[in-house]
Amino acid sequence: MPIISEPFGTYQKHDVELFTLKNSHGASAQICPFGATVTSIVVPNKKGQFTEVTLGYKDLAGYIGDTSYLGSLVGRYGNRIDRGEFRLNEKNYYLNQNNGTCHLHGGIEGFNKKLWQVSQLDNEHNQITLQHTSPDGEENYPGELQILVKYRFTEEYELEIEYEAQTDQPTILNPTNHCYFNLSGDAKRTILDHHFKLNCNAFTPMNENWVPDGKVTSVENHLFDFREGKNLFSVMENSTDEQRLLAGGVDHNFIINSSLGETAEAVEVYSATSGIALKVLTDQPGVQFYTGNFLDGSIVGREGVAYQKNTGFCLETQHFPNSPNVPSFPSTELRPGELFSSKTTYRFLVK
Ligand code: GLA
Repeated sequence: MPIISEPFGTYQKHDVELFTLKNSHGASAQICPFGATVTSIVVPNKKGQFTEVTLGYKDLAGYIGDTSYLGSLVGRYGNRIDRGEFRLNEKNYYLNQNNGTCHLHGGIEGFNKKLWQVSQLDNEHNQITLQHTSPDGEENYPGELQILVKYRFTEEYELEIEYEAQTDQPTILNPTNHCYFNLSGDAKRTILDHHFKLNCNAFTPMNENWVPDGKVTSVENHLFDFREGKNLFSVMENSTDEQRLLAGGVDHNFIINSSLGETAEAVEVYSATSGIALKVLTDQPGVQFYTGNFLDGSIVGREGVAYQKNTGFCLETQHFPNSPNVPSFPSTELRPGELFSSKTTYRFLVK
């Protein structure tokens, strides 16, 4: 199927298009170059009815004003860096602080607020490639970074996301996607009845500043043991676990059971309401499992529905938050001459 484009609005006097990648079964993903955003994913439910499984805005203006990262590509560094500070090559860097004293999701104007260039439309593979150049010093990151992302929607109902990047000075990089999913197909319902299974033996607890500081906690006998699968009702009701209380839900980096660079099936989520399941496959070492705790009804989505707390979840495949300050975590450094690459697949099926 050819990729369809339609006008979506204007940003700083530039016309911005919305691209629809449809497979031959009629399922689709929509991509907008503003923020390299995934604005929609529509897949069949157990009755064969096409069902929207993401949260999103009705128009570009919604994405321009967004502060919750709906569907966006976040970077350079997805998630938090403590005080925005890190040391690299014997130099200290002070990134913009935009979340308390933390640097979050790339800073004040991260990749989610950039108009990416469309560099390729590949109808044969149902794939769009977007490109962005981040200048040296942007948000106080070192090095000019050339980054591209490929979104491909397959016949097997998969959204494949691939990142590639290069730098001209040593820098750090940790891009991810910030889609909010609600597999029930009804954004008025919470995701608390979804069944979550995480292939993760451990997570990185956060300190009072909301960043992991090197501790790794086993999920054994812990509220966050999702290895056998469970829904979120019991987790949200728990009033004793200090990590759950601190985050107001789950908002934690889980360590995927895999060796570094190996692709693993990290997560499986299921909604009995729709019969839709989501599998997340990634070559990244971690996944930020976020249960939409900051959604508070102030966003009115494309359906005219106010997105209340816990009406969407995110599975942000990533390197661990605050890695540049924790030598025991896998490194997020990128050096000149190296090619950064990472891949995540969101696969949808019915059960
Ligand atoms: C990530 C963070 C959350 C929150 C959201 C955006 O998931 O871990 O704490 O900042 O993004 O609202």
